[in-house]
Amino acid sequence: MSIDYLMESDEEALRLELKTDAAVVQAQATLAGLKPGMRVADICCGAGLTTAILGGMASPGGHALGIDASSGRIQHARTRYGQAGSLFECRDIREDLSDLGKFDFVWVRFVLEYFKAEAFDVVRNLGSIVADGGILCLIDLDHNSLNHYGLSDRLEKALRVSIAALEDTVNFDPYAGRKLYSHLYRLGYTDIQADVGAHHLIYGPLRDSDAFNWLKKIEVVHRRTGFAIPGYGSAAEFSADFEAFFTDPGRFTYTPVINCWGQLPRKS
Ligand SMILES: C[S@@+](CC[C@H](N)C(=O)[O-])C[C@H]1O[C@@H](n2cnc3c(N)ncnc32)[C@H](O)[C@@H]1O
Repeated sequence: MSIDYLMESDEEALRLELKTDAAVVQAQATLAGLKPGMRVADICCGAGLTTAILGGMASPGGHALGIDASSGRIQHARTRYGQAGSLFECRDIREDLSDLGKFDFVWVRFVLEYFKAEAFDVVRNLGSIVADGGILCLIDLDHNSLNHYGLSDRLEKALRVSIAALEDTVNFDPYAGRKLYSHLYRLGYTDIQADVGAHHLIYGPLRDSDAFNWLKKIEVVHRRTGFAIPGYGSAAEFSADFEAFFTDPGRFTYTPVINCWGQLPRKS
């Protein structure tokens, strides 16, 4: 299956596993109403770790199905998490999914940021697998990767211009989070609720997982896009400057994460 995923690399499954915090996933899913006994769909499940966590929360009596278009990551997920009861399917979420059946809880986290143009259509398509009265839970970042204190003017401008270029050229949406409520509202979901938290809350000494995640993001995005970065002679020069900023325990970084969920009205 051919998808043009911005963060594609040989180490993407590893990056996703390292940056997944089970306690955060559990808190977000609990808030949105995930309970034991539910049938759960994990949309764009990546390495499958989130599917395993959600499946554990749905037990006893429920289960989770992870869906992703990357056959490599689905293979990884089956090998690593299949024995614990999670199921995985290689599917493109832009296509018809209705044969997968209905789910009581559909989880869509860190997905719509890669679908700037089609986010609403993707959410509408996912409605075909939400059971009557089921919950669609959308979670995404807002002002993605843009909130830092301690940047030089040169670095701040380079980041701003690079993210804007990603919007224009590869369908990346740094403002996906603020649009989630509107998708659910326009599609007629009821009892819509929202919560805002801080993702990437980074200050003090840099953790290895944050270093790997951010430096990998910069490396992959520049390898895949080849943009010229204003104020820098090369991607390597930009990376080195960002790394110097990011490893300084005096910097402060965060990204707002918005969790928005609603219920599909029961057909009477
Ligand atoms: C950032 S990861 C998702 C992380 C995960 N949902 C979580 O909560 O941590 C995005 C995933 O979307 C998948 N993806 C991208 N385009 C897709 C598509 N059209 N259909 C299905 N999966 C897709 C990628 O293969 C990747 O594994």
